Amino acid sequence: MGEEKPTRIVLQNSHQIDPYSLDEAIGVGAYAAIAKIVEEKISPADVIETVKASGLRGRGGAGFPTGLKWSFTATDDQVYVICNADEGEPGTFKDRLILEVDPHRLIEGMMIAGYAVGATVGFVYVRGEYALSIERMSTAVQAARKAGLLGKSILGSGFSFDIEIKKGAGAYVCGEETSLIESIEGKRGYPRLKPPYPGAVGLWDKPTVVNNVETLANVPPILLHGAEWFRSVGTEKCPGTKVYTLLGHVERPGLTEAPMGTKLQDLIETCGGGVKDGKAFKAALIGGAAGAFVCADCLDKPMDFDSLQELSAVLGSGAILVLNEDASIVDLLDGILSFFKHESCGQCVPCRGGTVALKTLSERVRNGTGTLADLDKMIEIAETMQAMSLCPLGQSPILPIQTALRHFRAEFEARLNAAGSAPVA
Ligand SMILES: Cc1cc2nc3c(=O)[nH]c(=O)nc-3n(C[C@H](O)[C@H](O)[C@H](O)COP(=O)(O)O)c2cc1C
Ligand code: SF4
Repeated sequence: MGEEKPTRIVLQNSHQIDPYSLDEAIGVGAYAAIAKIVEEKISPADVIETVKASGLRGRGGAGFPTGLKWSFTATDDQVYVICNADEGEPGTFKDRLILEVDPHRLIEGMMIAGYAVGATVGFVYVRGEYALSIERMSTAVQAARKAGLLGKSILGSGFSFDIEIKKGAGAYVCGEETSLIESIEGKRGYPRLKPPYPGAVGLWDKPTVVNNVETLANVPPILLHGAEWFRSVGTEKCPGTKVYTLLGHVERPGLTEAPMGTKLQDLIETCGGGVKDGKAFKAALIGGAAGAFVCADCLDKPMDFDSLQELSAVLGSGAILVLNEDASIVDLLDGILSFFKHESCGQCVPCRGGTVALKTLSERVRNGTGTLADLDKMIEIAETMQAMSLCPLGQSPILPIQTALRHFRAEFEARLNAAGSAPVA
């Protein structure tokens, strides 16, 4: 091994190179991993083994092992790779930055994924509002094509791969992999029932690998430096780094890349400059709207997929909204439930009706006209949605509701009491 332990992997080239320049990207190592693979004739199976050995887990939210996903992908005359750059989770904009600062890294990650699973075509499904990302990515694809790094028989290897960019139209549910596939096919973005998973039946019914931008951006350095190098940072079960979006009541909001397992307190203090205006920390919402509220007890807990699961929370896309002592959890939860009501695609009844009912109850609590029983009703409805909804969007509201009420029930009760007597039912 003998290589230095990395501190930054994904954002290593951020602001170090001109994102419009292929030469500058090559100067810092772009396309060296794919060149190594084809020149040394490393087999697709060995590429998958290296990614498996690295322990890389998907950064799109669920943390599914990437190498395992690739190994599950069926073989066929046509296989596709999709890079999920929809990024609709509120408070998340990490993928946008990766696309903007290092588009060639992503192209190479997709190429390696394509080589591993036998795909010749890749799609980048990117949030339509990300105009600069789209422009830089398109420029990079054209430059790579012109240089023979995309297209037929790349570097004379016989391996062919090309990339097309598709713009999303702003629906949160289209970040879900099967609705994203429907959307690329030109249909309404309704999620499909799973199984079958995209690895078996995906785009135009062909095997399809869907990976997040950050996941794919980790792949070239893993192939170049090896699995052990990647494992030298992060935790045993969650190796590597995570790109976090740190927002809310911190002195320096923004993006930061830190090793998996970094404590919440360290992220807030070191990366965020501490809680804004010297106020006390009250809570953090981790993982966006579909995430969990955690309180001060969690400040010294490591941030990674498994550690957060032990706390009944989720890492999700890595969005961290820090809330100070003045923040209202009642108002914030109401905003989250407005979001779910707005974004439910309406395909299945539990979510279509449930998101409306949750918003109605939450609004009553928020303006003080509800009852204490409304709080239990919210849990009951969200639990039913969790059990009965067709896709994870409808299964999501339970987590913010449950964690808000677990840690801050007194605040909800106080809101009801402040408006007069809070009847039990
Ligand atoms: C409602 C919803 C929205 C999602 N939005 C995104 C997204 O914007 N980006 C993303 O990578 N994954 C998103 N996902 C997860 C994807 O379905 C999929 O699991 C992910 O792209 C797989 O990539 P990974 O294995 O690299 O994490 C979303 C899931 C749901 C249920
Ligand atoms: S759970 Fe919600 S978003 Fe998912 S399919 Fe049903 S209605 Fe659509």
